[in-house]
Amino acid sequence: MVSLCILSCTQQEIKFMPNTLEQFRPGYHFTPDIGWMNDPNGLIYIDGEYHLFFQHYPDSTVWGPMHWGHAVSKDLLNWEELPIALFPDSLGYIFSGSAVYDVENSSELGTKENPPLVAIFTYHNPLQEKAGALNFQTQGLAYSVDKGKTWSKYAANPVILNPGIRDFRDPKVTQITKKDGKKSWLMTLAVKDKVQFYESSNLKNWSLLGEFGKGIGAHGGVWECPDLIPMKAPDGSEKWVLLVSINPGGPQKGSATQYFIGDFKQGVFTPDDTMIRWLDYGPDNYAGVTWSNLPSEQDRNLWIGWMSNWDYAQVVPTSKWRSALTLPREVSLFEVDGTLLLKSTPARELVQLRKTSYTISNNESLLPSTSVEILAEVSNDTQFSLTLSNELGEELVISKEMGLVTLDRRKSGKTDFNRDFAAALSAPMSWEAESIRIFLDASSVELFVNEGELVLTAILFPATPWKKVKFNQGLDAIKIVDLQ
Ligand code: FRU
Repeated sequence: MVSLCILSCTQQEIKFMPNTLEQFRPGYHFTPDIGWMNDPNGLIYIDGEYHLFFQHYPDSTVWGPMHWGHAVSKDLLNWEELPIALFPDSLGYIFSGSAVYDVENSSELGTKENPPLVAIFTYHNPLQEKAGALNFQTQGLAYSVDKGKTWSKYAANPVILNPGIRDFRDPKVTQITKKDGKKSWLMTLAVKDKVQFYESSNLKNWSLLGEFGKGIGAHGGVWECPDLIPMKAPDGSEKWVLLVSINPGGPQKGSATQYFIGDFKQGVFTPDDTMIRWLDYGPDNYAGVTWSNLPSEQDRNLWIGWMSNWDYAQVVPTSKWRSALTLPREVSLFEVDGTLLLKSTPARELVQLRKTSYTISNNESLLPSTSVEILAEVSNDTQFSLTLSNELGEELVISKEMGLVTLDRRKSGKTDFNRDFAAALSAPMSWEAESIRIFLDASSVELFVNEGELVLTAILFPATPWKKVKFNQGLDAIKIVDLQ
């Protein structure tokens, strides 16, 4: 169809021509309209809207001077991209960070009647870095008095100076209630190979409380983008979960997010054990953090991550835009053989995407579009598998065998942009797999075993869309849902 109208195309035809440059643009995952994106930042809910800020370089499809891009959604499914919220300034690029609603105007950046939203981010000064200094990352504030629409930088930035450590970034701030009933702000900051906890009563003056992580957990790379989240264990007790992204050193090489479960008191985080555990065993889930200020009736910890990997993020075959975010997920605790683990379930809103669904009785089906959800029960936990394919013979194989859940993207299409991209990506699962839920989009797959007890997220670039799915063995009650 494309070649047919090369010589004489009317405007109408051009409009409906498949845009091959956009063939990898997801249908229901967030991507910036143009330019580069990495980490989600400043996630905050206010007045019925989920705000999403993100590391953004609008002038190129590779990483550069970082801005905070901005998008909002009322349902976590449809995102509207808004004007850029924060631009680099004389103090540096705007690196990752978080945002809080300062209801009591403790920062005095708004008024009691109109409290501010406050963003806390890292300033990265490229000139100081080039000059060989070590203290080029500091923490700064910006605030919004119109519920997140527009932002102003705090005049007395930075609010935390650098003590001479190269990697000193990604502040995640949350409000805690202390023993005496007083509220205070708690910041978790990534500091080279550990996190530090800081406390403040006004978001401007911070004091160091304690630190965690030296020699504990995975240390194949620098620690980045932490998040400290209070959560309910299945027995009702309160636990604290610490997410820490590391790059490199992930289970599939490159970037990944590990977590620790434990207790947190007065600046001291005590993990239940020191095992290394991963939030997602796939290669393409990094720097994810949770939303702040969710209404308590939502009763969930809502999380989203960057769906790429620093090993190849800047060379994946998309043009105009680069990188999508993962699906929004709800993170919670569950128990296996007396041990608490972290589970990530697709956000409850995602069922609203479901259009037509098909139940499969034989073991093969055509796919209705590039936006598809596949659900199945596992009838044989020791061995199951399914294969997605297109007419070019490219394949994605999903399986469990010998206690390993695997996404095999070795033959998944374009892979030659990176030496290690074409790989079989495995995760150990020692407990029983009962169900699988798979989300396919134009250039990604997200596999949730037992509603997120084990997760694998991967990006893929099939030369033509997946056409067919074949259920080889071990799966039952199969349902295919068109999300488009
Ligand atoms: C994580 C990260 C952060 C940093 C940001 C810069 O992907 O390296 O540590 O703030 O990206 O864009």
